[in-house]
Amino acid sequence: MSQLSNQAFVAVTEFFEKVSGIRLADNKRALVEGRLQKLAQECGEDDINVFIQRVVRRDFDERVLVTVIDRLTTNETYFFREPQHYEDLTRRMERMHPQQDLQVWSAASSTGEEAYSVAMLMADRRPTSPWRIHGTDLSTSVVRTAQHGMYPVDRGSRLPAGYLKRFCLRGEGPYEGQLLVKRELRQRVNFRAANLMRDLPSDLPQFDVIFLRNVLIYFDPPAKMDIVRRVLTKLKQDGVLYIGHAESLTSLNLPLKMVENAVYQHA
Ligand SMILES: C[S@@+](CC[C@H](N)C(=O)[O-])C[C@H]1O[C@@H](n2cnc3c(N)ncnc32)[C@H](O)[C@@H]1O
Repeated sequence: MSQLSNQAFVAVTEFFEKVSGIRLADNKRALVEGRLQKLAQECGEDDINVFIQRVVRRDFDERVLVTVIDRLTTNETYFFREPQHYEDLTRRMERMHPQQDLQVWSAASSTGEEAYSVAMLMADRRPTSPWRIHGTDLSTSVVRTAQHGMYPVDRGSRLPAGYLKRFCLRGEGPYEGQLLVKRELRQRVNFRAANLMRDLPSDLPQFDVIFLRNVLIYFDPPAKMDIVRRVLTKLKQDGVLYIGHAESLTSLNLPLKMVENAVYQHA
């Protein structure tokens, strides 16, 4: 097995940055090697450096290039991550008219836990009201997982008491050890691929609530600003934007006001 050369590392990080906007730091070398070594072999190329040369030249069909992007993105997520946002949303919902139609966007939805957490909250707190959730992500493989709504059962330990039983099915037979989000929730959550660095799908509606969490962290300030500006075109005038608690929008000079920690609205 060949080792990743410096030249190939630089070439693939530049390729990845061009497509995703994400700059992989030098300390990600082992991660890149580990993730692409296996993929190179699956594509019949034993030498990772030759594989990367071919990727950069786009000497593979689109599916391989999409898989390279998938393997290099970091998709960590879990149900009810950063619970303060769900508490904030609950308080806001209590002040809304019960029949107000709520449109929510999980703008870097990864494998879907964030979008389904909101769906469970809505089903619990607004059982008879109209609402719809959209999830988008750069990585097509996580979008597929999100669409299936099936997760290892231990992920359910992060759900609020009673939600696992109420909103999930326990897998049996070949699905032993898995949980499946119930169909009535899955039907109200729509996932698809979209790149926040490019024009957004034109049929995305205007949103009351946007989750843009733990994705800005990958970008430098100009790219971050670009993404937030684009996302804001989809936020209703009185809508609310949640960003990750480890992220910051201060110093970006955006037309936003912070209303709580990691919670923003149009200025
Ligand atoms: C760490 S996960 C965050 C998931 C979830 N929002 C959360 O906070 O748990 C970051 C996600 O951002 C996605 N991502 C990275 N760059 C993106 C881009 N340019 N457009 C859309 N999604 C992107 C990755 O594929 C990954 O699934």
